[in-house]
Amino acid sequence: MTLQNKKIILGVSASISAYKSAFLIRLLVKKGAEVRVIMTDAAKDFITPLTLSTLSKNPVLSAFSEGDQGLWSNHVELGLWADLMVIAPASANTLAKCANGLCDNLLTAVYLSARCPVYFAPAMDLDMYRHPSTLRNIQSLKDFGNIIIDAEEGELASGLEGKGRLAEPEHIAEALELHFNTDKQLAGKKVIITAGPTQEDIDPVRYISNHSSGKMGYELAESFRNSGAEVTIVSGPVNIKAPAGVKVIRVRSAQEMLEATARDFQESDICIFAAAVADYAPREKAAQKIKKKDSEMFIELAKTPDIASEMGKVKRDDQLMVGFALETNNELEYAKSKLERKNFDMIVLNSLQDSGAGFRYDTNKITIADKRGRVVAYELKSKELVAQDIKAYVIDYLGL
Ligand code: PMT
Repeated sequence: MTLQNKKIILGVSASISAYKSAFLIRLLVKKGAEVRVIMTDAAKDFITPLTLSTLSKNPVLSAFSEGDQGLWSNHVELGLWADLMVIAPASANTLAKCANGLCDNLLTAVYLSARCPVYFAPAMDLDMYRHPSTLRNIQSLKDFGNIIIDAEEGELASGLEGKGRLAEPEHIAEALELHFNTDKQLAGKKVIITAGPTQEDIDPVRYISNHSSGKMGYELAESFRNSGAEVTIVSGPVNIKAPAGVKVIRVRSAQEMLEATARDFQESDICIFAAAVADYAPREKAAQKIKKKDSEMFIELAKTPDIASEMGKVKRDDQLMVGFALETNNELEYAKSKLERKNFDMIVLNSLQDSGAGFRYDTNKITIADKRGRVVAYELKSKELVAQDIKAYVIDYLGL
């Protein structure tokens, strides 16, 4: 993989993590990219323009005009020059400006003028990161079609522990490489992704469900959409906004998820089963709220339909099925047996033994095994980057 001859604008805004942009520039330049750096004035308190200009081999820009010789940096030309723009670190302030169309410095003006894809890698303290205004700004930027490289968890400059660290330069560089390597390679492909939990009703007020948040499935949807695929999510009840341009079919129970998936399955090229489907449901749903009577209560459960297995029975050779396996022990062995049993082409194993993997987290740690016998283990990453890895694996498997 390479960034040979790619023209990249790196925006650097004020954050203690601005030192990481030096490493990021080195990586991008090493991979063949031409990098031009735009810094906000406040960012210069954290790292000098000299360091970044030396590493990028280009003058660092930060003002609309330089000196008294009438030289000015044309933000429109810069915006048109780039194949890709990445703002890393993107401070809360810069995110807010970009989300709201403010352009009182060169960086935000270039962002507004850019026609290329724009990536934001936020970095800030954890409370700033989870503040509703920051979350809203990030969502707005996503809605405009920008791509967010999620902040990572760990120790922060404040001494607090949590989410807000700038993604590691290697992870950012990898996301950009994947962007160019998988760009629009899935155009014309129809993809179905099951996501989230199912809810199996006991009575009108109670149900059986699990901890799935839907994050993994929705990140996959966004990633496949970014590569030109036509994506449908068949989604259990979750609290996530659908990525723009992705069709969402909302369901509750395993039976409804089966029916919705089956309706579009024959038309699909790729089907990814990321949902955590309840394996059992009450045999009968009580019409009225069940009253407390005795100290114990028994509910008879019946097996739910296995959506992946049902689709596996009617799958054509030109369709690709990707399963997930959530395991707690003998992980690879169980995952491989599901690969066979459900007629998947590949299976993505996530283990609850790995901290930060599986349900709810913003991160995941996966191993992919395919029916050609290949097994690839990945490190712990944000679910966004995990989705990119899965997409890259699929593209490679299909020889696209
Ligand atoms: O939603 P998040 O909080 O982001 O968490 C993501 C996740 C942990 C839910 C996801 O990464 C994941 O592992 N999903 C599959 C969980 C699961 O149900 O695994 P399983 O080993 O029980 O099922 C194997 C496969 O069969 C899965 O692809 C599953 O979607 C599918 N299946 C299972 C049962 C069933 N009745 N129908 C199915 O289609």
